[in-house]
Amino acid sequence: MAVIGTDIDKAAELLSEGKLVAIPTETVYGLAGNALNESAILDIFSVKRRPKFDPLIAHTDSLEKVKSYVTHIPEPAMKLADAFWPGPLTILLEKQPHMPDLLTSGLPAVAVRMPRHELTKQLLSKFDFPLAAPSANPFGYVSPTTAQHVNDQLGDKIPYILDGGPCSIGIESTIIGFGENERPIIYRLGGKKVEDIEAVVGKVKLKIIHSSDPMAPGMLKSHYAPSKRLIIGKLDLLVSRFEHKKIGIISFSKTFEQVPAENQIALSQSKDLNEAARNLFSALRLMDQKDIDLILTEKFPEEGLGQAINDRLNRAASR
Ligand code: TXA
Ligand code: MG
Repeated sequence: MAVIGTDIDKAAELLSEGKLVAIPTETVYGLAGNALNESAILDIFSVKRRPKFDPLIAHTDSLEKVKSYVTHIPEPAMKLADAFWPGPLTILLEKQPHMPDLLTSGLPAVAVRMPRHELTKQLLSKFDFPLAAPSANPFGYVSPTTAQHVNDQLGDKIPYILDGGPCSIGIESTIIGFGENERPIIYRLGGKKVEDIEAVVGKVKLKIIHSSDPMAPGMLKSHYAPSKRLIIGKLDLLVSRFEHKKIGIISFSKTFEQVPAENQIALSQSKDLNEAARNLFSALRLMDQKDIDLILTEKFPEEGLGQAINDRLNRAASR
């Protein structure tokens, strides 16, 4: 199993040697490697069992460094970076030729993000190269929000997990790019609310891709999935419809008398969508380990992080 610790120098040493280290971010844990080192990138794809047509995000800690990885930063991108970096927003920018094609799966844009987590910020400040870091889970499974989650699934494949505690946001970054006339387009809903983004760059287009089309990298529909069947609907109705089965419930705040308490998780007693997002992936993992036949859940309010929660639940339900 991997060593779990808080030794930034150790993590930096391994990464500088081209090895992989799991790192904490405010969204989810990442499986990091030197983004300019092709053999480290290949190891990331292989440890995750991820198809190479699904490109990786480059993480760094300063705008100066970003400028050395991309050809230019469009004005709306600059505004977003000023407003939200470091934070849960990934921006697609045209890459400079020296950025490996393997990193971007041959696409002309590289996904760049400055994470907001003390340990990882300190770690990144030691490098002149960015860290490629997809979520530290096997491809297609729920993303990890604790060091233990990473260890459970990838612990035998990597030497070190930098433990930064549970992730404060708990859902992956929002991904934004720019179309014709620098028009902002959101490709993945995530930890940065659409409302906040629109307050900075105006109305954005949503182009959330749900196919397994390799031309639409990374937005595969059956993603974020637990191995148990998950059904979304009106919980009262679902609970009575499946009363003959062993069910688990992930609700926003409600609990049900007919179902054993240990098989129910309310994501936020006080109906706080940020709290619900923070607890979502742990809840999916916990339910997956229980002796139940299926997981029932509900649609969350389509506002704030509720949009990203619904997106992840829909993907988890579609198998
Ligand atoms: O919050 C996050 O973004 C986490 C933490 C670790 O930073 N990372 C993460 O990475 O979620 P990953 O690889 O699990 O998801 C990144 C998504 C993929 O779906 C990928 O297809 C998309 O970003 N992506 C990466 N580079 C892209 C590019 N050049 N063009 C379009 N999509 C890209
Ligand atoms: Mg992922």
